[in-house]
Amino acid sequence: MKRLNDLELFGDFHLERDLINKSGTEANIFLISGYAAKISKEDAFSNNLLKDLVIPFKEYRIAREFFDGGVSVPEPKGLYAIKDNLGEVWPAFVMDYLNEDYININKLDKYGEALDLWFLELRKTEKFNYYMPDSRNKDNAMYSKKRRDVKLIDFRRYQKID
Ligand SMILES: Nc1ncnc2c1ncn2[C@@H]1O[C@H](COP(=O)(O)OP(=O)(O)OP(=O)(O)O)[C@@H](O)[C@H]1O
Ligand SMILES: [Mg+2]
Repeated sequence: MKRLNDLELFGDFHLERDLINKSGTEANIFLISGYAAKISKEDAFSNNLLKDLVIPFKEYRIAREFFDGGVSVPEPKGLYAIKDNLGEVWPAFVMDYLNEDYININKLDKYGEALDLWFLELRKTEKFNYYMPDSRNKDNAMYSKKRRDVKLIDFRRYQKID
């Protein structure tokens, strides 16, 4: 596990202009150089403690495991430092950005094939031995009608079952 100071700088961002999830709850996601960078709102990052990195690192590891194992998730890029317009540096989980083609399944007027595609991906995750409290939340699945594709997101609260 690295410390914030050891992380490579991924890029600069603006706290308002580059925010993706405007109604975000516990996390903020920013669009930086065409990628999505997710940080945790509740953490205090100022003193570069190990704990500041735990949540984004954990989410990155799970996303990596799923992606490599053939589950449809945004391709994880890694754990990086990102710097806001006030000069503050944050540890972030950086992944592929799902463009406007994708919408939260929750927001669909008609689910159609989205539910089938979603269940297919959820079923794939079962072999990885995680306790997945958020997996049935339709907010954590993104659907593109154009690509006929569902991508799972948001693994922060998953727990490995040993
Ligand atoms: N890679 C991505 N590309 C585009 N939009 C994304 C991406 N990841 C997340 N989003 C958008 O941001 C929203 C919030 O993301 P996510 O579910 O990961 O975090 P959260 O629910 O706010 O926080 P928490 O991790 O605490 O559950 C998603 O519902 C989705 O609309
Ligand atoms: Mg979520």
